Amino acid sequence: MSSSSSRNNPSARGLMVLKSLFEADGSLSGEDMARGLGITRSALWKLLGTLRERGFIIEGKKGTGYRLLETPDMSAEGIMASVRGPMGRAVIYRDAVDSTNELAMRLAGEGAPHGTVMVADAQSKGRGRQGRPWVSSPGKGLLMSVILRPEMSPEEAPRLTYLCSLSAVLGIRRVTGADVRLKWPNDLMIGDRKLGGLLIEMRTEPGAVLYAVAGFGINVSARVSQLHPSIREIATSLLIETGEAYKRSAIAVAILDEISLALEESPDAIMGQWKSLCTTLGREITVTGMRGTITGMAYDIDSAGRLLVRACDGVEHAVSSGDVTLAPSLSAAGR
Ligand code: BTN
Repeated sequence: MSSSSSRNNPSARGLMVLKSLFEADGSLSGEDMARGLGITRSALWKLLGTLRERGFIIEGKKGTGYRLLETPDMSAEGIMASVRGPMGRAVIYRDAVDSTNELAMRLAGEGAPHGTVMVADAQSKGRGRQGRPWVSSPGKGLLMSVILRPEMSPEEAPRLTYLCSLSAVLGIRRVTGADVRLKWPNDLMIGDRKLGGLLIEMRTEPGAVLYAVAGFGINVSARVSQLHPSIREIATSLLIETGEAYKRSAIAVAILDEISLALEESPDAIMGQWKSLCTTLGREITVTGMRGTITGMAYDIDSAGRLLVRACDGVEHAVSSGDVTLAPSLSAAGR
């Protein structure tokens, strides 16, 4: 393990200490905590010290014991100690990587289990959809990739896009209350500005998806001036929209928990919810895909995940990939 990853990534015992602090209703006495975890008081004291070094503010008072007051903006153990389902039970956190998707694909190829998560503060070669780069301000965005081992055929794989993008929207809405919506195929939008996106990559064999990586890039705490100049006019962040600096760990946990829940849902239920939060349907759009550009009314998404568009000449098209431009809406506002 590199010095960067051992500094960032938790020990199993540190995680147990943190979980008991998270779950405690009030303060926990050092004696009870050490006994409950089967460790000595001095081992507990060291583990608390390590957690404090990593940014957890833990109050220790004689007589009452220990209480967690504050968690850092991003930490592997903060995510692992908070998730409720199978997603995020193992989290690898790096200060900087080329791409969390790249790393996750490599680890998945080496056998990393379903639900393993990679997060980073910065990426030097962030990947976006359609071969575009993904740029984000270091420390200001959630850069997260989740390894999935779904039991599905490659033909069913578009479902993963819907499942993961819906989970992102539901998770962010739950934490922040922001009116986040979906633009086909998987952009996360607030109004007409892009809050984030999703890139799914996978390895398949005939008849089966071996593994997939769902990579989320979400602008969390960047101010307008901190958004990369190339996206400043079209992007937004949770801080810009809500005025609050949400913790990236909290957003990550909410998304991971939504994925865990969504994996238990039927594809129809996912698609129904997705459509209800989608800004593309029922609007005049232009979609640019591999087969050219179509302008018309986006009226539905079929069971294969294709966008159905009725063009101006009345011809109906089923589009499986591309970029959508929405006709201007009244909600578009300057800033
Ligand atoms: C898009 O183009 O809208 C999708 C962007 C997805 C970016 C994320 S950031 C974390 C993960 N690692 C990557 O290299 N890409 C995804």
